[in-house]
Amino acid sequence: MRRRCYLKSNEVVPEKEQPMSDLSRREFLQSAAVAATAAAVTPELAAQVPGGAGKGALPVVISSANGLRATQRAATMILEGADTLDAVIAGVNIVEEDPEDMSVGYGGLPNEDGIVELDSCVMHGPSFGAGAVAALRNIKTPSQVARLVMQRTDHVLLVGEGALRFARAHGFEEVNLLTDGARRAWLKWKERHSDCDDWIPPPDPAKNDTQTRAPVDLPFSYGTINCCALDPAGNMSGVTTTSGLSFKIPGRVGDSPIIGAGLYVDNEVGAAGSTGRGEAVIKVCGSHTIVEAMRHDMAPVDACLHALKRITAATTESRLRREDGRVNFDVKFYALAKDGRFGAAAIWSGAKYAVYADGQNRLEDCAYLHERPAKAQTRDAGS
Ligand code: GLY
Repeated sequence: MRRRCYLKSNEVVPEKEQPMSDLSRREFLQSAAVAATAAAVTPELAAQVPGGAGKGALPVVISSANGLRATQRAATMILEGADTLDAVIAGVNIVEEDPEDMSVGYGGLPNEDGIVELDSCVMHGPSFGAGAVAALRNIKTPSQVARLVMQRTDHVLLVGEGALRFARAHGFEEVNLLTDGARRAWLKWKERHSDCDDWIPPPDPAKNDTQTRAPVDLPFSYGTINCCALDPAGNMSGVTTTSGLSFKIPGRVGDSPIIGAGLYVDNEVGAAGSTGRGEAVIKVCGSHTIVEAMRHDMAPVDACLHALKRITAATTESRLRREDGRVNFDVKFYALAKDGRFGAAAIWSGAKYAVYADGQNRLEDCAYLHERPAKAQTRDAGS
């Protein structure tokens, strides 16, 4: 028996980008209108909000530190009337398409075979919609494919070859995502990460030798971008997108495409997202934990710290502990409450995050659990 068909036979084949604002109203408008009416944030309410939102503060857009251009673009689009999901996706597209950013999209660091595999998920607060792709190759903007998984399938997550075929069906252009800079970084890792394989780095002229095999300090990167937004009507959305752990085992999937881990949005409560060691975030359902803490009246920054403490408590592996017992990796959480408050926290000090609020776009300091020592012993060099 054939499954229920969701697309009408006379429907026009969609463009690869299908903005929420252009969707036929059948799926989304009703739920959006109900949500907006039920939970609109008035300027009066925003004026009472401590922690970042004052009178006229909305929209608020937050992102990881690499998302300063994303917050500006998203806020500008929201002020022009765009849906929050379209706005945050357009924001992170800047970074996904930037060949200089080696943590996200085009130019991201590849897996151990030298192939770039991307992860992303989106959540649309008004419709409680969610979509995601994982281990997606050849497509610069996985966040746009994730939005189409939400809009044009009955599923939430597509992976690997299936995700690529879905993107192809929607007209996405395929490109080689491995830039020369990322290839050179991968080759350096390949030649130096082991002294018991057949890869040999070039001679080190300073040492006048021909075959340097000593491993060098090549930091792992979990670099990622998360971006969440709240518009003046009280509607929220979020996106997280990444090339994942650098030089990962092919097929490894981190927290970024996992709803509840790398991103969670509840239009009645708030939104949260993460960057850093995805394995740690997955195990505590990090973003969902934060939204649930905010549901129980915890301030955004406290909710982020609460989730980070869950991570450090849950890390039992000695290989993930430093000599002083603290974890040897970093995670950062970003949270935005329905009432306009926002905050972010990292395990280690020194982190920043991007914020557009009160009409200003800037970087702010993350709260943290531990003071970062002068010589970092963490595996995380990325956002
Ligand atoms: N947070 C990104 C990753 O672990 O893949």
